[in-house]
Formats: sequence, C-alpha cells, structure tokens
Amino acid sequence: MNIEEISAKLSWLPPSVSRFIEKRMKKIPSVKKMIDAENEKTMQVLEHSSKPYANKFEKHYALPSSGISRDRILDEIKTMSDLESGRWKDGYVSGGIYHGDNEHIEFLNKVYALQSQSNPLHSDLFPSASKFEAEVISMVANMHGKGTFDHNKNVCGAITSGGTESILCAMKSYRDRAREERGITEPEMVMPLTAHAAFDKAAQYFGIKQVKIPFTADYTVDVKAVKRAINNNTIVIVGSAPSFPHGTFDDIKALSDLALKNKIGFHTDCCLGGFVVPFAEKLGYNVPVVDFRLPGVTSMSVDTHKYGYAAKGTSVVLYRDEELRSHQFFTSTDWPGGLYFSPTLAGSRPGALSASCWAALLSMGEEGYLRATKSILETADKIKAGIKEIPEIKILGNPVWILAFASDTINIYEVLDQMGKKNWNLNGLHKPACFHIALTLRHTQPGVAERFLRDLKESVAHVKANPGSKEGLAPVYGLASSLPFRGIISDILKKYLDVIYKV
Ligand SMILES: Cc1ncc(COP(=O)(O)O)c(C=O)c1O
Repeated sequence: MNIEEISAKLSWLPPSVSRFIEKRMKKIPSVKKMIDAENEKTMQVLEHSSKPYANKFEKHYALPSSGISRDRILDEIKTMSDLESGRWKDGYVSGGIYHGDNEHIEFLNKVYALQSQSNPLHSDLFPSASKFEAEVISMVANMHGKGTFDHNKNVCGAITSGGTESILCAMKSYRDRAREERGITEPEMVMPLTAHAAFDKAAQYFGIKQVKIPFTADYTVDVKAVKRAINNNTIVIVGSAPSFPHGTFDDIKALSDLALKNKIGFHTDCCLGGFVVPFAEKLGYNVPVVDFRLPGVTSMSVDTHKYGYAAKGTSVVLYRDEELRSHQFFTSTDWPGGLYFSPTLAGSRPGALSASCWAALLSMGEEGYLRATKSILETADKIKAGIKEIPEIKILGNPVWILAFASDTINIYEVLDQMGKKNWNLNGLHKPACFHIALTLRHTQPGVAERFLRDLKESVAHVKANPGSKEGLAPVYGLASSLPFRGIISDILKKYLDVIYKV
C-alpha cells in the first residue's frame, strides 16, 4: 500500500485521532521509509520547478575573492528579470503583480532610488519618512470611514511590511490588551476557516487559540456558529472582505455587531479589498460596508502593495483608536543601547518603500483608483459571463473579482495543470478542490479575459478527453488535500523551504 491508498482509507478520521496515529506511525521504520521515499519524489518535482537557473547562471557559494563588476551584476539581474516578467506582464498570473505598467514601475523605482537610505526607525534623521508614513495612514484611514461618524474620529494606524505583518500586529494588540485589561491568559480568536493563513501564524507566534468556523453554502462564514463560539476568553472575531480563497465577503456587519455586543475586538481583513471596495462602492457596485463606519470594527488590515499599487513591502494596519494601537508598540527603557521604541515587528525598516507607497497613492489619486477598480470589475463580469458557457466549471459563492473555479464532473487540478501548460500561473486551493484567479490590472489588458476563457475551455476539453493524468502537480494537490496526516504535509512544506534556500 502506498501513502495515497492509506490516506484514502483513513480520510474519515477526525484530526485529533489522525494526529495521534501519525505520531505513532512515524516511529515505525518501514512507514518512515515509505514517507521519506514519497517526500523525496515530491521534492524532486518541486526542486525542478523552483530552480530553473541551476545550470544557467554561475553559482556563488561564498563571497567572490574580489568584487564582480557592477555592469556584470546588473546584466545578470536584468536577464533574470526579463525571464521572469513576461508571464505577469502579459496577464498570465493570478494576483502577484497588481499594476505592472512600465511607467508606473519606473516612477516608483525613481522614488525608491531617491530614498534608498531612509530608515523610519531614525525619525530624527529622516523626518520625510515620518511624513510619508503618517500621510499614507491618514489617506487609508479616510478611505475606510475615518471621521464619518463621531465613533470613528480617532482611527489611526501603522505601516507594516505586508498583510501578514498587519495581521500579526493587530492580533498581538488584542492579546496584550486582553491580558492587561481583562487578565485573559488563554486568549482565543474566533475566525472563519477561510481567513488568511496569517491568522494561523499570529496564533502560533503569540499563543492564541484559534476557533475556526466553517463556511455556509455561499462560502461565507457561518455567523450563528461564530456566535456560539464566543466565550470569556475570546479576544477578537475576524472576518474577511473578501477572503483569499474564494473572494467572498463574510457578513462583516453581523460579525462586528456580535463583537460590539460582547465587548470584544473585531478585525476586518481587507488586505485584498482595501483599495477596491471603497471605489467599487463609489462606482455604485453592490459591495457591503466593511470599515470603521460599522461601530463594531476595531481594526483593519489594508494592503497598499496589492490593489494600492505600491511596490512590494507595505501594508497599513488601522485601529479604531490610539489606545488599542498602543498595545502594538514596543518600548525598551533599560537597554544599554539607549531608549528604544519601534511600532511594528521589524526594527530598521525600508523608508524607501514607505516613500514609494506614498508616491503611488498620490500619483493614482481617487480618480486613478476609480478607473482601475472599474476596469477590474468589468473584466470580472466578462469572465463570470464566459464561465456560464463552460458547463463543467462552476464559480464558488458570489465573489466580486477574485474567482474560484471548481467542478463536479472533472478533476479541477488536472484543469489547473493544463492551464499551467498554457502559461497560466493560477492558485491551486483545497477543501474544496478548486483554483482561483485574483484579477488585477494585468488582466484588464485587451484580449486577456478572452484568452483566459478560451484556454480554460480548451483545458476542460483536454481533461474530459484524457482524465486521470499522473503527470504534473495534480496528483500532488490531490494527495495534499486528502491526506489526513497534516504533519506529513507540514514536513514536506518545510523541506520545500529547505530546497528554496539551496544555492
Ligand atoms: C485576505 C488576505 N489577507 C492577508 C494576506 C497576507 O498578505 P501578505 O502576503 O501581503 O502578507 C493576503 C495575501 O494574499 C490576503 O489575500
């Protein structure tokens, strides 16, 4: 019997039982050998796909004895960038690069070059960094309802390195506030099963128990189950607007009302929606209110480096008031290195990224974001209409511009593999098996939506005619989602990270 057959036989086991069996099984030498062999096989597939430069460029295991010429270094980097950019420039990639026009990128690069030495940790040396950051936070806070009611006049925030850090900061703030004000030593967060993995990371890093709530038939969190899950240790409820996997909006109003009633925090994860929802609302699209206009919302994560069209490496975490934000801040008053204080997880930070974020927001302006949002939403509508003509494929839930595709009749991972062969880089998801495309400005270019639909139609036809492929990543996806032993999957992922760090 191989791992696939074992997993098929044991997939009905509850997670706690399979964790117990897994630990025992790994101690049996023959089973361990079989797992290692499977791991090795998977690693070979992954290593091959993640190291395309293995034989193309010189490898540097240690410092060169004398410096290599700058021209040669620049040449090599340019060659790699050129090899990598075609796919996303032509709109074959889900999410990832959200703007991507040459002129926009060159403008951000100029700003970066002007500010490359700036470090917001030294606000005395770089007051420009403080100005950029304070103004970015203010602009984003105003987009999300700051000052529209008395209850949200004090909305404030911080700049972080990305959505994950924004979420980590918010969860840490809730944990520390609950410990200080309510004496909670075993904090719990109630979150949708579909909320981003950054919340799992926050739970692991900060010792917060997660209570994960399943979704209903429309792929939004079951609000009644959230209500039942709240207890005296609950420090925060989480909702996504929208979620990464299926692009659907949890019922933020109902969730934030629950939080308000129970006097606990509520975090809207608006990493994906932060620069789309406010403009979609202004354009008259039917999108829900998910921000500080709802009195129960106490924090939000809004990614400037996604649909804010800033360079990679910035996000904004917003709080209802400074008191809640203060639990995020770190101070050290007795360190021989002097009085030390920093707002986020990092110490020194790239001021150039804050500067280019500020520049992106200013250069886009409200008009630019409205235009961008309109074209993305129109592209989404075009694809949604086209999918109706592919009966084997269905869209999960009622998403707006992040569309997850599944099938009741064919293996969706085999379709994903076929799309890969046609140059597409889409996100394979599981539980349930599906893949998604996060539509960006790259997909609004003429002909891209049509090409996506045509390629999808052809991929579906191919899989229908040739089902059960054992090639590509489809079997790996299938196994990864069905295997009850999640520790084995976790080991594989850690080994993959080892592979990535191999020269
Ligand atoms: C809804 C949501 N939240 C959080 C994140 C994490 O953001 P980042 O990858 O910038 O850390 C993502 C990333 O895609 C996301 O989609």
